[in-house]
Parts: sequence; structure tokens; C-alpha cells
Amino acid sequence: SKGSYEHYMLKEIHEQPSALARTWEGLASISVPRSKEVDFAKLDKLQIVACGTSFYAGLVAKYWFERVAGLIVEVDLASEFRYREPPMSKKGGCLFISQSGETADTLAALRFAKSKKQYCLSVVNVPNSSIARESDYVLRTLCGPEIGVASTKAFTSQLAVLFHLVKKAAQQRKCGQDLIKSLGRSPEHDVVSSMHQVLMKENRIKEVLPLFKDATSAIFLGRGQCYPIALEGALKLKEISYIHAEGYAAGELKHGPIALIDEGMPVVVVAPYDRLFEKVVSNLQEVRARGAKVLLISDKLGCEMCKSYADYIIELPTVNEILAPFINSVAVQLLSYFTAVERGTDVDQPRNLAKSVTVE
Ligand code: M6R
Repeated sequence: SKGSYEHYMLKEIHEQPSALARTWEGLASISVPRSKEVDFAKLDKLQIVACGTSFYAGLVAKYWFERVAGLIVEVDLASEFRYREPPMSKKGGCLFISQSGETADTLAALRFAKSKKQYCLSVVNVPNSSIARESDYVLRTLCGPEIGVASTKAFTSQLAVLFHLVKKAAQQRKCGQDLIKSLGRSPEHDVVSSMHQVLMKENRIKEVLPLFKDATSAIFLGRGQCYPIALEGALKLKEISYIHAEGYAAGELKHGPIALIDEGMPVVVVAPYDRLFEKVVSNLQEVRARGAKVLLISDKLGCEMCKSYADYIIELPTVNEILAPFINSVAVQLLSYFTAVERGTDVDQPRNLAKSVTVE
């Protein structure tokens, strides 16, 4: 049941800290049979395949695997991958991400990869789903059933599993040890406690809603590992509030999207204070100079530096930059949730959408 929550989506947003803690506990307690275990040291490439929000989790993982574990990663939409039938590396592995484990395109992509003798690992939420049954090995997100059509806790739980895999890959490949050390003793604990803090910011998030009041379109910008979060923020907003929204890599602005900017266009900038921050700030100034109203989602330092450039600011807790996608996700989820509630849409059952896309 929804308990005291107005919608399943809000309940599921709030379940994220416990969902992630459970997922990580589950991963720590499994012992993988040697024959089944992926050895990242032996791979020369990892191919990630998924759809929708699960695809965005894969995109975050690409930044993590490449930077931390020095592993080449390609991420593809299942619907493209399955028909492109790309050549596969002899020393490659494939990773399929799916909440339901029944998404038709992802399942077909898995079958194609298996026919090419690839090692196929899956991250699923539903045990015994088709994708789980047909994979060489399965890692589960333990976030419980997700009822809301818009994926929330499944997404961050997928990130939790992927983060676990990245750490393992770094260890096996003897790579990125400094980065891993910089995460501190328990990055998992840091993520869970900072997520709690973001959930306490609901009132602050409601204060920025005037930004979307009369909007017919919105743009989300991010760079690096927050680029997928910009994509996810835009997808969430369009799914449940029906506002047309696009996510862009901030560096792409000049290559087209900036033509859309005028006084009526809200721009959400997802930019923690990291090595790319300065770059994003100059993008922020470019859109502001053209009249856009800007919402900056950042941490303490980022918000301080940009006070005078942004119309609205949501300050999130400061975490290690690698962990930023976890908490920025929660902020964009809440933003789209409250926008949808204000617009009076059917948050849990948005029009034209099904929870599980079992047909093409
Ligand atoms: O069950 P899956 O993770 O395979 O589903 C993939 C997409 O259909 C799903 O993430 C979809 O994009 C959600 N509605 C996003 O909120």
C-alpha cells in the first residue's frame, strides 16, 4: 500500500536510502561461484545494454568504469543494439540492466549477445524474470516492487549495483586505487545518509516550482557523470508532468539547443562542485544572458560560487564527486514529482505508459 504517501512514486522516492542499503548488504553477502564470476581483468571491453531509465544508469556506469577501472565501456539502447547486431569483442562482456527483467528489446539484445558467445551479466529487480533466467549471472537490486510507472528507487538501486561492480573491476584490474581510497571508509554509508538529507529538502524543492508554472518546455544540462542525470531529470519531467523536456550535455549547447533559449525557457543545471564545474558555470551564464530562468542543483561550494548567477538554487549535501549521481537523482525525481502534482496529472499511471514494455 501507499501508506501515508499520496502516491507510490513519492513513497518509492522515500524508500531509496533503505533500498540502497539493502542492495549493498545483499551484494556483500553473496558468494559468487568461481565459474560464474566475471573477471573484469580479462575483459577488453564492456558492452552495456538497456532501455529508458535503466539505460541512463548504464551511462553513469560508463563514466565510472572508464575513470575508476580503466575499462572501455560502450552503452547502447537495446532497441538499437538488437537490430544493429554489432561485431562483438572476443574478450568482451555484456551487461544488461532492467528493473522488470521483461523488457522485450533488452531480452532480445541479451539473446543476440548469447548467440555471439558473450558472457552475459544482468542487473534486475524482478527475480525469475526472463532476463534473469537467461543470463550467465544475475545481480539483484533489492529495492522491492516498484509500482509507480516512473522509475525511481530502481534507478538508484541499479546505480548501487553498478558502483559495487566498478569497485570490483578496479580491484581486479589493479586500477584507480587512489580514487577508491578518496571515497573514504564507507562511501555506501555516505550515500545513504546524504540521500536522507536530500529527502528533507522537499519544502525547498517546492519553492522552485514557480519556475515550471507556465512552462511548456524545459532543458536539463549536465556534464560528465551528471549528464546522464540531466537526461534522467528530463525523462522524469516529461513522463509524469507532460512538460516537454530535453537533457543535454552542457557542452552541446552551442551546437544547436541554445537557439531554443528565451525568457520562457526554464533551464535546470545539475552541477556539483567538481572538476567540470567551471565549464558548466559558463554554460549557465550563456543561457542566463539569453533570458532563461536558471535552477542550479549543486552542493555547498557550487551554490556559494553561483549565488548571483542562478535564479533558483537547490543545495544538496557535499559528497565525493563520484557519488554525486546518487543524490542528484533524488533531487530531480522530487522536482518532477512536485511539478506533476501541481499540474494535477496522474503521477503513478501517466498516460500512454506501461510499467513493463514487453512488446516492441
Ligand atoms: O524494466 P526496465 O528497466 O527494462 O524498463 C526500462 C524502461 O522501460 C523504463 O526505465 C522506463 O523508461 C521508465 N518508465 C522510466 O521512468
